[in-house]
Amino acid sequence: MSTDNIFAVINSQRACRAFADTAVPDDLIARVLDAAVYAPSAQNGQPWEFIVVRDPAARATICELMARAWGEHGRTHSESHLSPALFADVDAGLTGGIATAPVLIVVAADTRRGNPRTFGSSIFPCIQNLLLAATALGLGSALTTIANAYSEELSQAIALPDEVSPIAVIPIGFPKRPLGPPSRESFAAHSHRDQYGSLWDAAPSDTTPSDAAPDTPTAQ
Ligand SMILES: Cc1cc2nc3c(=O)[nH]c(=O)nc-3n(C[C@H](O)[C@H](O)[C@H](O)COP(=O)(O)O)c2cc1C
Repeated sequence: MSTDNIFAVINSQRACRAFADTAVPDDLIARVLDAAVYAPSAQNGQPWEFIVVRDPAARATICELMARAWGEHGRTHSESHLSPALFADVDAGLTGGIATAPVLIVVAADTRRGNPRTFGSSIFPCIQNLLLAATALGLGSALTTIANAYSEELSQAIALPDEVSPIAVIPIGFPKRPLGPPSRESFAAHSHRDQYGSLWDAAPSDTTPSDAAPDTPTAQ
């Protein structure tokens, strides 16, 4: 297994909100979902359910819910919270870009397979696996939760039973344009040694030559 490859995937994964007019075959979707289920979950309850939505009418309904939630609640709130570039991308995504994805995966949690306090948290590691696998396969994807503002209508659109709650809608498709690198602060600005406040870069490393592992003895 090449560990370089997984770091390259992690370091390039990001939200895609505009998609090429290219079909995504089922075998790629299956690989992405197979990666998703290798995630950790509380008590190994694996509470996830994936609804792979290709049907144009169902996709249109879900995207309409997302656009409505953005128009009625999200846009005004987000304008002052997001950078102008992110705001523009989210705005374009929620008002049409995400609707260009040939597949929407609704990730839901079955409340019967886990403790009520943890079943929701168990879904996000699986979503991260899904996003990383999509990136590794050259697919664009985005974690979105805005449709949860209308979770009843979302559930109805994909026939979820009462015990299964929608958690996220993930558009999947080939990116319309290159996404470029993610913009992230360095881990060092938010990592501390032993106690909060002792920042990673400020403290000396704990591996000094004197306590490093001795050289492997050689035959004399
Ligand atoms: C919990 C959560 C909810 C999110 N919901 C939305 C959403 O509803 N719509 C959207 O366009 N992006 C959504 N995002 C994506 C974030 O905007 C994105 O991860 C962040 O801006 C970083 O983008 P980048 O990976 O492209 O750099 C969500 C991300 C998370 C973690």
